[in-house]
Amino acid sequence: MDVIGQVVSLKKAGSNYKGLCPFHNEKTPSFVVSDAKQIFSCFGCNAAGDVFEFVQRHYSLDFPATVEKLATEYGIDTKGAQYQSSNKDELYEINREAARFFYKSFLTPGNPATAYMQGRGIDSETTKRFGIGYADGEWDSLLRHFKALGTDVKLLVSLGLVTESKGKHYDKFRDRVMFPIINTSGKVIGFGGRALAGAEPKYLNSAESSVFLKKNNLFGLNLTKQDISKENRGILVEGYMDVISLYQHGVRNVLASLGTALTENQAKLLKRYTLNVVLAYDADEAGQAAALRGAEILYKEGLKAKVLQIPSGKDPDDYVREHNKSGFLELADAALPYAEHKLEAIKKKYDIADTDGKLDFIKEAVVFLRTLSPTAAETYIKMIAKDINISQNAITLEYNGNTIERIEKTNLSKSAKNEDNTGKLPDVLEKNLIRFCILSKDYFEKIQSFEHAFTSRYGYEIFKSLEAYYLQGDGSDVKNVMDSLDENGVKIIEDILETVFFAGKEEQIFADCIRKIESSGLIKREKEIVQKLSMADEAENAEQIDILTRELIEVQREIQRKKS
Ligand code: CTP
Ligand code: MN
Repeated sequence: MDVIGQVVSLKKAGSNYKGLCPFHNEKTPSFVVSDAKQIFSCFGCNAAGDVFEFVQRHYSLDFPATVEKLATEYGIDTKGAQYQSSNKDELYEINREAARFFYKSFLTPGNPATAYMQGRGIDSETTKRFGIGYADGEWDSLLRHFKALGTDVKLLVSLGLVTESKGKHYDKFRDRVMFPIINTSGKVIGFGGRALAGAEPKYLNSAESSVFLKKNNLFGLNLTKQDISKENRGILVEGYMDVISLYQHGVRNVLASLGTALTENQAKLLKRYTLNVVLAYDADEAGQAAALRGAEILYKEGLKAKVLQIPSGKDPDDYVREHNKSGFLELADAALPYAEHKLEAIKKKYDIADTDGKLDFIKEAVVFLRTLSPTAAETYIKMIAKDINISQNAITLEYNGNTIERIEKTNLSKSAKNEDNTGKLPDVLEKNLIRFCILSKDYFEKIQSFEHAFTSRYGYEIFKSLEAYYLQGDGSDVKNVMDSLDENGVKIIEDILETVFFAGKEEQIFADCIRKIESSGLIKREKEIVQKLSMADEAENAEQIDILTRELIEVQREIQRKKS
């Protein structure tokens, strides 16, 4: 209550409290908090959970940061943690003071940075929002400012604000527009300094330090994380200027990496706010190549990456200035999913009108498809088949032909690590299903629509090998699927063949398996409904209560039916 009440204005409603949901846009309140149960639930967007979940989502923090926030605000002792971060706090404070100093210079009448930003169409509201500053052309303005404050020069050097040469100290950033880089906890971690028209290098950045780790941070996210969560999509661009310009034009779910290739950690950070990312990189060759690499990193971290293409050699800043928010969003909506974009890029390399060209394209395409999940690969095989008018089977054969080799290679190294990871081994249900798949194609086909029941890595891999085997339909022995599995996979199949017997009761056992799969989904749904009902307001959610109750009865009946 105390925690949520700071963020949402809550009114008493029956035994609960009610307010506007902070996780989606709404005009009538459907966000309910139960003080007694210490949980919240929203009838509009399905958000639900306890106080940790709330803080984590609202402030977009990871779990440790959530615990720390709650601990500091609610007086729980975290001495150890505070001692450790005291030196860092000092460095953050210096950066913040530097940002204030640069910001003040930016407000000085007649300074060239303000004129420069104006010339690029950025208004004062936006420069204020981003805390944009000016490092003047003197050699020691910042240094003198900090000396007057008694700051240790060593710290200024370690942050890369001051440079030392032949025993002399001077300001590193001179005559530059200063973009403060602020992390998601609101700390100033560094600066990007853009040269005024023409000077080189175009950008100078703060030195890497214990507080400025480029690979772990993204520019703009401190301002835009909420918009990214709300819209459930982030627009990832290359340049600081692209972020600032898009933001001013109303595209507020925007962010950029810090002048280096996108990293795994940045992908993980972004994943806290959304799974959907549109890469809007510059139209030039370098930009397009970087977009593909970035998309691949995001894809590997489980995000859904799309690549947007800006026509006629422009960057996002140019484009949004000419075509406004709506024009830019049209491009974003038309962005191709990463895999499609990658396949397009591969296709461009070959002459598809020519038969040899087609085959070479397929050879390269399947190499890429093998990096995707089997289901995704299948989808794209279908798409390519249609697109270049070649049978799906031919592409699948090409894909599978080398699959065997691949699985062997990648799994040999992995299997060692996974050896005692029992969580990854098939459970009894999966073993039964695999046994049925081996027993006959009929059973296999029935099981195909329950692919999600294979929750272990090996269960899924074995199922997929069986699928490939039946797809090829070459009449060879089903045991040949073992060729495509690694040592552990083979052991598991052998174990199944030795230990799983149906003794003439196939039909009955099969029906049991299917029932089990179906009811695990039902039980999950039952829990969800019960939680929702416990939070519902009799008067205001009457209609929903009605619908939910009826569904609950149905679900419980189904569960009973499956048990008997
Ligand atoms: N960058 C950098 N150092 C450079 C050049 C670029 O760190 N010497 C980084 C900056 O983060 C920059 C990004 O790469 O924002 C993209 O570069 P660029 O497109 O050149 O910069 P923009 O911010 O788009 O600036 P502008 O529109 O003024 O060209
Ligand atoms: Mn640019």
